[in-house]
Amino acid sequence: MLVSDNISNIQKVLSKHKRANKTVGFVPTMGALHQGHLSLIKAAKEKCDIVVVSIYVNPTQFNNADDLSAYPRTLKEDIEKITPFDVDVLFTPSDEIMYASKSSININFGDLENVMEGSFRPGHFSGVGIIVTKLFNIVNPDFAFFGQKDFQQLTIIRKMVNEFLFPIEIIAVPIEREPHGLAMSSRNERLSKEDRQEASIFYNTLNRVKELILNNDNVSSSTILKETESIFEKSTAKLEYLEIVSDTDLKPKSSNYKAKDTVLCIAGYIGNVRLIDNMYLIS
Ligand code: PAJ
Repeated sequence: MLVSDNISNIQKVLSKHKRANKTVGFVPTMGALHQGHLSLIKAAKEKCDIVVVSIYVNPTQFNNADDLSAYPRTLKEDIEKITPFDVDVLFTPSDEIMYASKSSININFGDLENVMEGSFRPGHFSGVGIIVTKLFNIVNPDFAFFGQKDFQQLTIIRKMVNEFLFPIEIIAVPIEREPHGLAMSSRNERLSKEDRQEASIFYNTLNRVKELILNNDNVSSSTILKETESIFEKSTAKLEYLEIVSDTDLKPKSSNYKAKDTVLCIAGYIGNVRLIDNMYLIS
């Protein structure tokens, strides 16, 4: 595996593979790798001849300086975790490389970013859009792999690729979960053992709401909200939002939930750790 922070080194190796007509798959990450990230790498290895992983903690997508400095940086362990997957290239750039010129461009994703994570984390998706654009331009992959765990991010990346005509196919990878249902996340490391148990409330609530909708005709949004609030009343966890949206435009639905495009999205806190999760109504 070539591990490098140097753009021209990476591009030299990749252009050789491209001349040999090899397909290139790309998995962008911020490191602190867990099974969720590794499932993306596994999917990329299965589909592509050459796999590139990037590890870069992107400052422009953090709204909070403390959150950015607390983000785990574990490159040595990450390399150990990736090694068995036989990844071809690991790109580990510095801030100086990724933000050599201080750009003043913002990407506005319109209605897609006025809901859910966008409304709670202003500027976050612009930062994601900017860094993913830069990484796509450096790696120039045929396929790029994103987790369904960050459902709004996945939707926004798909939109960006379509509108900016990136010649890249986006592959969505299902959510990897802990045995009791909690979606894997680098933030779970900040939870105590008891909090981890408690955190399965997000997954359990999604399942309960799914069951409520599928087993009742025309369940109302106020019934869903009441049920959700009653689950959280008994817990130390705090609910930030439960949204039922369409997977294409992320528009909230308030009726006619029973459809293939319906996704249940949830966010909240265990202590000061913010967690998100989601689930298709019909899988
Ligand atoms: P990061 O949070 O490191 O996540 C990297 C990729 O792993 C994302 O596509 C995310 O959706 C996926 N992922 C995380 N947890 C997962 C899980 N439990 N199951 C399946 N996939 C999971 O997302 C980012 O980094 C950044 O925003 C990035 C796209 C790299 C841009 O900076």
